[in-house]
Amino acid sequence: MDDSIEARISSECPVETQAILRAAWRHDLPAIKPFLSGPGKASCSDPTTGETPLHAAIRSLGPVTESDEKDAKDEAETEAVKTVEHLLLYGAIWNDVDDNNETPGCVAWRLGRKGVYEVMLRAGMRAEMLFAILDGYEELGSEGEDDDNDDEMAEGETGDVDVNAEADAEAEAEADANDNVNEAETEDVTATTAKPASEDAPYLESKLTLVDGKLVDAAGNGVMMAWEKDIMRRSVDAMLGDGDAAKGKRVLNIGFGLGIIDSMIAATQPARHHVIEAHPEVLARIDAASASGAATSTGGSDDHAAEFGAAWEATSTVEPGAYKIQRGRWQDICPKLLAEGELYDAIYFDTFGEDYSELHRFFSDYIPGLLDDQGVFGFFNGLGADRRICYDVYTRVVEMHLSDAGLDVAWQDVDVQLAEDGLDTAGKGAWEGILRPYWTLETYRLPTCTFMG
Ligand SMILES: C[S@@+](CC[C@H](N)C(=O)[O-])C[C@H]1O[C@@H](n2cnc3c(N)ncnc32)[C@H](O)[C@@H]1O
Repeated sequence: MDDSIEARISSECPVETQAILRAAWRHDLPAIKPFLSGPGKASCSDPTTGETPLHAAIRSLGPVTESDEKDAKDEAETEAVKTVEHLLLYGAIWNDVDDNNETPGCVAWRLGRKGVYEVMLRAGMRAEMLFAILDGYEELGSEGEDDDNDDEMAEGETGDVDVNAEADAEAEAEADANDNVNEAETEDVTATTAKPASEDAPYLESKLTLVDGKLVDAAGNGVMMAWEKDIMRRSVDAMLGDGDAAKGKRVLNIGFGLGIIDSMIAATQPARHHVIEAHPEVLARIDAASASGAATSTGGSDDHAAEFGAAWEATSTVEPGAYKIQRGRWQDICPKLLAEGELYDAIYFDTFGEDYSELHRFFSDYIPGLLDDQGVFGFFNGLGADRRICYDVYTRVVEMHLSDAGLDVAWQDVDVQLAEDGLDTAGKGAWEGILRPYWTLETYRLPTCTFMG
């Protein structure tokens, strides 16, 4: 990777953009400031290299050296941080990618610049938190539509808000940045989606195939893959404990997939075991295996469909319905479980084709009512896992939202053997036949959530 200024600012770059990029490269704030009054200027980019002022301000630092590390007050990095913070204040987009598919935070991470990486991380977190708030924000009706309610809301709002000009400017700059974030995410960076499906073909209507331990949707996205087995094992141990301690618990799992985690849960002899699954083909595979009386599934040793279905449901000796596949979307089933007074010792959530807002909604709306006071909640933590900075941003975002929902989270680092598991090259090894690797990192952060206090 050539990180020189000559390689990054091309001859095709417009003169004004060149001037901004060069000033950012030098961390020359007085030179940058006059440019930033125009809309979008903080996020201008070289048309050939995709270099933005944020990339330039970080890249010019070069790789961290031993003496930089010893010198806690690395002056160059301090200047870079000031420049980066100023650009962000004026709406620079935190996750624009350059021609090397790197966001500014990716460059900071590659160069070992921890101080400026942290600034980018916080910027990503602010943008994503704001995005989550705006996404859930209900627009007020227009004047006259419902005057009584509007007046009440308006009064409440003006009473609560202490407006000050600086905060206003920052909020505006951040809102602009956030608008742009939305664009950037759909175009380039998958930050908000755990395992995305194609927008053209809604996942639940998509045809599925199962080859070599990979459940794949019609667009070629990996729905569930055998390499996640170790993560499922550890998630079960973290939620239920091991040995006799794991026996006799009430467990809810959302998302059957290949049934890997359900097979592990079933082996602990739970008192209740409920599974929510919505995809008709996943449900049909469970039924087909069960109807034919097959002892093993057709999809190989990682396919556990044959272990579930009617025969399994009938094995519950405690009471009818204690072992059950709940057919439908969790969004429709969970309200019924709540109404029926179901309570679980462990709940695991691992769906596909839903974005982060759904996971957020699930633990905010349903965990408080469905999880026992001493219970444990776990989820597949694949948020933003196709790049380091997005994964780190989402770790913090989810931590804050969990805390809003009254949950503490403990993270356990799990090594992912990228080379050994054939996960290190797109289109090859485990990713053969898969459209896009949804996992690229060497460490999985396994969440174990419990109620606070
Ligand atoms: C990643 S797989 C789960 C893998 C599972 N943890 C295992 O160990 O095999 C995700 C599953 O969630 C299901 N799913 C997706 N959206 C859902 C929804 N809204 N409600 C219920 N299930 C859903 C998918 O059909 C798929 O079977």
